[in-house]
Amino acid sequence: MKFFIDTANLDEIREAYDLGVLDGVTTNPSLMAKEGIRGEENVRAHYKAICDIVDDNVSAEVIATTYNEIIKEGEALAKIDDKIVVKVPMIKEGVKAIKYFSNQGIRTNCTLVFSAGQAILAAKAGAAYVSPFIGRLDDISTDGLALIEQLVQIYQNYEFETEILAASVRHTMHLVQCAEIGADVATCPLSVITGLLKHPLTDSGLEKFLADHKKSNS
Ligand code: G3P
Repeated sequence: MKFFIDTANLDEIREAYDLGVLDGVTTNPSLMAKEGIRGEENVRAHYKAICDIVDDNVSAEVIATTYNEIIKEGEALAKIDDKIVVKVPMIKEGVKAIKYFSNQGIRTNCTLVFSAGQAILAAKAGAAYVSPFIGRLDDISTDGLALIEQLVQIYQNYEFETEILAASVRHTMHLVQCAEIGADVATCPLSVITGLLKHPLTDSGLEKFLADHKKSNS
């Protein structure tokens, strides 16, 4: 399973990359706003800075919601760097745009996906990635992980090449369960990735090993 980090914060992206386990980055307009990135030039420069840190797969989301504007904005984003994946919302105009981008060889990530039907449309349009938001489904008492399970089965049935990118991953168990189910990618905050490191038996075991080593070498 690929690990993407879900942030526009450059320090966090560097930290995850330095750990050696990062395969990409996802951003969205809320995450860009959180970093105070505004204005077309600053946004482009920020995406370029992200691309310069990681090896591939930087999702940059369009703000446009009409077909022509999505195409214009998406093509401009794709020109920033070959690592850019154009993130397009799951709306009618978005699906049409994903088909267009797919014909042009521009990779897309179809975002704001909350149902299997939406994910089928994204795959048929040729999205490189589909982003079901599992945490937000859980927030409304719906089983987000059940959707991932359903998509793994459906995409397998028809050998769709679209990769299932579990998004809105809120905690380590979400991530582990996505891996069990067979999601292709999980995108999550840095705290979820580093949270995987933690186990009290690792800490106490290491403490004892080091203490024993010190004793026998003093
Ligand atoms: O990748 C989508 C993600 O940013 C949404 O996460 O926690 O805002 O639902 P969240």
